[in-house]
Amino acid sequence: MSRQSHSTDVLVIGSGAAGLTAALTLAQQRTVTVLAKGPLTSGSTAWAQGGIAAVLDAGDTFEDHIRDTRVAGAGLNRRETVEFVIERAPKAIARLVELGVPFNADGASLHLTREGGHSHRRIVHVNDATGWAVQAALLKACEANPNITLLPDHSCIDLVTGRNEERYSGSGRVWGAYALDGATGRVQVYRARATIMASGGAGRVYQFSTAPRGATGDGIAMAWRAGARVSNMEMMQFHPTCLYNLEVKNFLITEAVRGEGGQLKHPVTGHRFMPDYDPRAELAPRDVVARAIDDQIKRFGLDYVHLDISHMPPEFVKEHFPTIHEKLLGLGIDMTKEPIPVVPAQHYTCGGILVGLDARTDLPGLWAAGECTESGLHGANRLASNSLLECFVFGEAAGRDILECWDRLYDPPAIREWDESRVTDSDEEVVIKQNWTEIRRFMWNYVGIVRTTKRLERAAHRIRMLTDEIEDYYGHFRVTTDLIELRNLLQCADLIVQSALKRHESRGLHFILDYPNTDLVARDTVLVP
Ligand code: FAD
Ligand code: SIN
Repeated sequence: MSRQSHSTDVLVIGSGAAGLTAALTLAQQRTVTVLAKGPLTSGSTAWAQGGIAAVLDAGDTFEDHIRDTRVAGAGLNRRETVEFVIERAPKAIARLVELGVPFNADGASLHLTREGGHSHRRIVHVNDATGWAVQAALLKACEANPNITLLPDHSCIDLVTGRNEERYSGSGRVWGAYALDGATGRVQVYRARATIMASGGAGRVYQFSTAPRGATGDGIAMAWRAGARVSNMEMMQFHPTCLYNLEVKNFLITEAVRGEGGQLKHPVTGHRFMPDYDPRAELAPRDVVARAIDDQIKRFGLDYVHLDISHMPPEFVKEHFPTIHEKLLGLGIDMTKEPIPVVPAQHYTCGGILVGLDARTDLPGLWAAGECTESGLHGANRLASNSLLECFVFGEAAGRDILECWDRLYDPPAIREWDESRVTDSDEEVVIKQNWTEIRRFMWNYVGIVRTTKRLERAAHRIRMLTDEIEDYYGHFRVTTDLIELRNLLQCADLIVQSALKRHESRGLHFILDYPNTDLVARDTVLVP
């Protein structure tokens, strides 16, 4: 066994809602090590505002939630997955209540807010900072569990497979991961019988994104390099209302502001424009609202549009949106009295590693859950507040499946150490910054809300040029987290563009001027490594 090798029953990559839910499920019987790239709260989970969708209202039904999810997903969802997740939602919420998440209450029931695309009030929330409360409760439970080891500041570089065994087997079986320990600067092997990828989305591939800095698609890229299929990567969700501010670039204004009466207006004329685009107005699904705003911005040469909830009583606004209200006051905007300048920004990665209902990937030994996956729930566009829900349901499904098949999983063999004998420290960090900025800019301009084949081909050309440069750099210099991220960012950009070029129709989030119609039959874009 390698000197720098750690062994655990199950390795979980990611400490967000998906990873920690899986860890808690497994820790009833097994030891679990959870790796996170930065602090344990650095994923999107802690940033979630609006809440979690679940059928809890007397007038609501599973069938309605299933229908809303499939309407938003433009028919690309897999019905069995949609049913699987939505029917498990009330139980997932009950477990979070048990863990101490202080959801807002309405008398004896939970308070339910409303968001775009939902035909009922069905979003449970903790004011406008639901994710922070969920992340804190999950972390508290994990920290208290002696079977769980939490290791922040460990950036996984690649999955360990049969190719890395000391006695080379060449099998695609996954035995853990190589990770860079930020404290020591050394790369170590983390060996496990089973590995769960729960590393979140790839939003930072775009110049403007609501996602945190670390959302660089590492898990999707790692799984792809190890041989797993990825699906529907062209389905990138743009949230309609990110704050427009020259200093604060990625602050989300929750969809619940529109759910509670907020209106979108032209910033000069004050015209409320959403009814011109869709009868559901501000509560149309996100792709519709984001495209309408994009159209207004382009048509009138605007920098932003206005989101206005100042017609509601100030106390109501402050009570429902305390975090946003306070943040905006700090920037000189009083949302109880004036409109908020907003623009669309990348928000959610609907595509990802292909998984079944048991959260298994194509690779033996690798399961995956949460935003890094394509489970069939979201289809061509995610319905608001369905993604935390997916994390809870699939995090648990991964954990349960591993426990059920535990006796058929083997102990990992000896694994080769990470080889640094042919690399040196970089003396050209500027290459990373330059390439990172370039990727994010051309992805925004060429692979954004409205696409054309010509622009996609331009992006593909840029990606080919950068691939040689970045692989050359990666081959010569010692890895850093920035370099790991840059390599993965480029890999994800390539997967997005390849997928977008394959889809010859407009559906959900993929809107391409060369193919404005929607095919009669919905098909996934599955890429095979
Ligand atoms: P994350 O929570 O993103 O966690 C990823 C984890 O993987 C992190 O711990 C990270 O450190 C780790 N990681 C990544 N790469 C590596 C690596 N190379 N090595 C080791 N570890 C790694 N959804 C809703 O349902 N409701 C909402 O109200 C909502 N609001 C949102 C608001 C914002 C601003 C954003 C950005 C998203 C929102 N979403 C919402 C989406 C939702 O928050 C995410 O989809 C969900 O939290 C993803 O959880 P996850 O566990 O899959 O990944
Ligand atoms: C929001 O609060 O608008 C985000 C909800 C989500 O992404 O599901």
